[in-house]
Amino acid sequence: MNNNTMRIPFVDLNLQHKSIQIQLEQAIQAVLAQGDFILGQALSDFEVAFAAASGTEYGVGVASGTDAIALGLQACNIGNGDEVLLPVNTFVATLIGVLRAGAKPIFVDCDRQTALIDLEAAAKVITPRTKAIIPVHLYGQMVSPRQLLDFAQTYNLLIFEDAAQAHLAERDGYRAGSVGIAAAFSFYPSKNLGAFGDGGMLLTRDPDVAKKMVRLRNYGASQKYFHIEVGTNSRLDTLQAAVLREKLPYLPKWNCDRNHIAQQYDRELLPLASAGILPLQNHSDVGHVYHLYVIKIDNACPLTRQQIQEKLAELGIQTGIHYPIPCHLQPAFTNLGYQPGDFPQAEKLATQILSLPMYPGLSSSEITEVVKSITSILSVEPQQLLCL
Ligand SMILES: Cc1ncc(COP(=O)(O)O)c(C=O)c1O
Repeated sequence: MNNNTMRIPFVDLNLQHKSIQIQLEQAIQAVLAQGDFILGQALSDFEVAFAAASGTEYGVGVASGTDAIALGLQACNIGNGDEVLLPVNTFVATLIGVLRAGAKPIFVDCDRQTALIDLEAAAKVITPRTKAIIPVHLYGQMVSPRQLLDFAQTYNLLIFEDAAQAHLAERDGYRAGSVGIAAAFSFYPSKNLGAFGDGGMLLTRDPDVAKKMVRLRNYGASQKYFHIEVGTNSRLDTLQAAVLREKLPYLPKWNCDRNHIAQQYDRELLPLASAGILPLQNHSDVGHVYHLYVIKIDNACPLTRQQIQEKLAELGIQTGIHYPIPCHLQPAFTNLGYQPGDFPQAEKLATQILSLPMYPGLSSSEITEVVKSITSILSVEPQQLLCL
């Protein structure tokens, strides 16, 4: 069964789009009529609205989340000669952003229960050259802002959030994007707030960072044809901003739906704990926005993750792995000098995690079907394996 014929896909954006289709079409038509395709009105409107919704001051729309990290670090004057701490179990774009900014990435292992960056481990790799930490609010759960701010103050570091998976997430009274000097967001279509293509944004409350970012995304120009630094072409299209602006008011409801879906998964998966199927741990006080719903398949499970994933696919249920190879083991980055075994928690988790279908509109009966399918696979397969 290929991805298009899955009965329960991993993500289905159609439901979301159909519910506001007329509005989206009108927003696109308005940009066509206006013709301000580059740096147009809808972009400025969306930048203001998204920054305000995230509890901060300025938004600068760029072409992708990766550019928001790479250019955003530069805008914060983090680059050559600076060491930057980041979790090793992130999407590779976090790492690419650090490298593109010219800084040296220093990987940190994660917490085994939550998969978030381990700040105790981070403290052990700080040197006089460490300038910043990039907490990745992985899967939609924020790294504790309170702990991050203490950490940054103790070691005199900047906090640059990777909030690509955490639009409007909350914790300790902070929204994602409002904790550090700046934060990067992605609007890749399947993100909690997704465009009709690629897109990203840097949020900051620092006017100088915002001004520099505005230049960097537009060839380094401070005014037309006057270039004061080497920038690039990385602007969020007006059309994409118009779509995102229409979607933004629905985001709290969509995040709430994700939360309810996660709670149902949590409840229904409970009996499978003894069979080695465990949801990742979430802090009870968090405004988790569940970009992904991730389970761990541990040693108590009679089947491998691959067996479970394949069997679910046969039953028409699509799953994902985020991410199967930690950054330090990716072939492109062997020159960073890390080895297998350097990050035991992240390496172990990479072999255990499985992301279940998660999107607003996933119905209660579909959630039950996913869990029942896992249950039936677990109860059937052991005898079959014994016969092999
Ligand atoms: C944690 C994280 N950081 C960065 C990115 C990069 O965003 P984009 O795909 O928009 O470049 C992503 C998204 O894919 C992500 O999940």
